[in-house]
Amino acid sequence: MVAAEGLLWVWGKEDNKLTDKLGEMRRTHDCSVLRSQDIGKEVILMGWVQRRRDHGGVIFVDLRDREGLTQVVFNPEVDPEIHEKAHVIRNEFVIGIRGTVEARPGGMINPNLDTGEIEVIVTEFKLLNTAKTPPFLIEDSIDVSEAIRLNYRHLDLRRPPLQKNIIIRHQAAATVRQYLNDNGFLDIETPVLTRSTPEGARDYLVPSRVNPGKFYALPQSPQIFKQLLMISGFDRYYQIVRCFRDEDLRADRQPEFTQIDIEMSFVGEEDVISLAEGMMEAVFKNVLGLSIERPFIRLTYAEAVGRFGLDKPDTRFGLELEDISDIMKDSDFKVFSSAVKKGGIVKALNAKGCVDLSRKEIDDLADLVSVYRAKGLAWIKIREDGWQSPIEKFFSEHEKQSLIERIGIETGDLIFFVADQPKIVNEALGHLRNHLGQKLGLIDESKFNFVWVTRFPLLEYDEIEKRYQALHHPFTSPIEEDYERLKTDPLSVLSRAYDLVLNGSEIGGGSIRNHQREIQEAVLEALGLDRTEYEEKFGHLLSALESGAPPHGGIAFGFDRLVMILCGQQSIRDVIPFPKTQKATCPLTNAPSDATKTQLDELNIRIRSLT
Ligand code: AMO
Ligand code: AMP
Repeated sequence: MVAAEGLLWVWGKEDNKLTDKLGEMRRTHDCSVLRSQDIGKEVILMGWVQRRRDHGGVIFVDLRDREGLTQVVFNPEVDPEIHEKAHVIRNEFVIGIRGTVEARPGGMINPNLDTGEIEVIVTEFKLLNTAKTPPFLIEDSIDVSEAIRLNYRHLDLRRPPLQKNIIIRHQAAATVRQYLNDNGFLDIETPVLTRSTPEGARDYLVPSRVNPGKFYALPQSPQIFKQLLMISGFDRYYQIVRCFRDEDLRADRQPEFTQIDIEMSFVGEEDVISLAEGMMEAVFKNVLGLSIERPFIRLTYAEAVGRFGLDKPDTRFGLELEDISDIMKDSDFKVFSSAVKKGGIVKALNAKGCVDLSRKEIDDLADLVSVYRAKGLAWIKIREDGWQSPIEKFFSEHEKQSLIERIGIETGDLIFFVADQPKIVNEALGHLRNHLGQKLGLIDESKFNFVWVTRFPLLEYDEIEKRYQALHHPFTSPIEEDYERLKTDPLSVLSRAYDLVLNGSEIGGGSIRNHQREIQEAVLEALGLDRTEYEEKFGHLLSALESGAPPHGGIAFGFDRLVMILCGQQSIRDVIPFPKTQKATCPLTNAPSDATKTQLDELNIRIRSLT
């Protein structure tokens, strides 16, 4: 076998170049569009070589572009010179061909290919570029690590599943823009070099050269700017916008991600909710051809957490939690009764038909709940010949009977229990529920279950920082009836926030805002900020609120998460063209990288020894 380079050299010597110029050649068709009605046409195709097959003298090439594949044929009987030249072709070479569309000979029709009925017989061939052997095949499924894929992302993106994801992303964005434009929204840009915006994550800082020692923060969201735009009278705003948050990364979190950011004036919850539902309806219709049911289900925060353990419930399956604190409050099993006495709760989850889970499997589930700070995972197996459990001996007949009725216990069931403070119990069992839903195959993957979660608490107490913090952000309005309790009982105050959850993923969140300075100050004070602090941080917003701020509210959608679900993917990295790794690095560009001494000097920055 002669190496491709050798052939190129021989051929190059004649032409005095390794590749051909495009010259007069102009592409006439994409590689996916030719059908039997095109037979007889002369066409010009350009693309990448997916595969070359040498069949007894005739060379077949599957030519690929963004849209699909066409088989092109180099036949020595048609043109021996071109056929000879075609021997150089290797996978991923870029070629252009002129040729005639012909029917594939009987029996050779490929029903798996849109263009499977035809082939193009080549009459002119240009080698537009060569390619080194790629580190992985450009195919639907490949068995290489994500690190290698990200290192060669430009090649990874050539693979059809990723091309499809990026195209779906475009279609979703186009639909969103169209829908919002049609509803009278204006697309307005906001700064990227700004000051800290409080969404609860760490900021990415950018040093200012001309203001030594000072830093911009990249926006965690355009929250304050979009409120200022309402105050400026723009009424209905949107932006598909990049946001930056320095937080621990997961499958559904990236340091830079995209929001569909929306704000409206003179609105209440129902206006924002109905606009958002209409937008989801349009996206699912345009992108997937699906009609989704409206109105979406609504759950209050208390209901969501009570029944599903989490404020982003996956409602595609049952397995709901049961509160059994009242049954267990005087139990001889001290772990349970003392939890209740200390203000905690006991909840149960009935894994129906799971009695045969092994000890090892149960131990693994106990490890899973310990991540959420549960101190243990008690269990009871309901066998034909009685209950089997390390804790059953502590229960009275009356308690057992009450459990049977409350939890709907039947033979074959495996019941799990967690006792602790409510936050720990709900989180632990909520995640256990999601895990079991997957493991037991309870989830119908074809469903799209939207849920609005409403009536969130305004604040929560951060045990580590020992202070209150906003559950959403500090600009969310409390519900009017609760204003009074901001000072006396802040944790009981509910807010006018709403989150949109799709299949257990929080895809959007927003609220009606504080549009009057007094209420906004009261909330900032409830958060423990004194006047000097909030004037320093939010003085620009507070003063704008005094200048005739209309009532306003809005929402932001996690666009990457929405697209991930539309594409049926498990990670937002698969729907972002150039994502970052779990360690917030980009293997393709090697960002973040060192700065030169000159750059650091200009910025007045000295790097402390990192050892
Ligand atoms: P919030 O902080 O809830 O609200 O963000 C809105 C939505 O953005 C998505 N999201 C993320 N997606 C990927 N990676 C991340 N690191 C990430 N963080 C958040 C989520 C989330 O629901 N300004 C408010 C909105 C408002 O009140 O109008 C805000 O940013 O899907
Ligand atoms: P122990 O008496 O600590 O051996 O615990 C008996 C069983 O109760 C074990 O299966 C533990 O996992 C479980 N357990 C311990 N603490 C808790 C808790 N807070 N909630 C639920 N189960 C617990």
